[in-house]
Amino acid sequence: MGSPMTEAANKPKEIAEILLDEPTLQSRIAELGAEITRDYQGEELIVLCVLKGSIMFTVDLVKHLGLRVAIDFISISSYGAATKSTGVVKMVKDIEEDIKGKHVLVVEDIVDTGLTLDYLKRSLSMREPASLKICSLLSKPARRKVDMEIDYLGFTIDDHFVVGYGLDYQSFYRNIPYIGILDTSLLDE
Ligand code: PRP
Repeated sequence: MGSPMTEAANKPKEIAEILLDEPTLQSRIAELGAEITRDYQGEELIVLCVLKGSIMFTVDLVKHLGLRVAIDFISISSYGAATKSTGVVKMVKDIEEDIKGKHVLVVEDIVDTGLTLDYLKRSLSMREPASLKICSLLSKPARRKVDMEIDYLGFTIDDHFVVGYGLDYQSFYRNIPYIGILDTSLLDE
């Protein structure tokens, strides 16, 4: 595991600050995994990874689930400018599992306006799962447009443009193992 010092040394210049380093992320994810394991004890769980931002978080979280777990993927696309959520979403890739009567945990990297999850919750609820809960690594309440209850939350953050650990800017930075604040003054250079 990389130490914060190594991460800082390799930091791209456009990452202004490391907001959540790798040990901080991993220790919180272990806690979330333990909490989810306790809550679903004796049950089977479908973990639904919302592509693409949630890939890193999902992969690390499921390693901490002491349950019978099936993993599935869904892809939602929002239209509009690169850094803004317009609220118009469409399903790009649907899930493959039949979720009727099953316990479903939707895993997100970030809840920003809440519009993506609002759409997903409504659309998945129609398929009559036994339960439907939300787990998000990050929440940015300053940007919220719809109320969204997050059942399992990693961190609440301020209104920064964050990248890394799955989160992108124009498809890049997802592979960075920490969450960093992108220097927006460098975005159009
Ligand atoms: C991001 C993120 C959430 C959504 C949150 O996805 O992964 O799904 O935006 O924003 P909201 O609360 O304002 O709806 P994005 O559309 O950037 O796709 P990606 O996961 O493939 O990067």
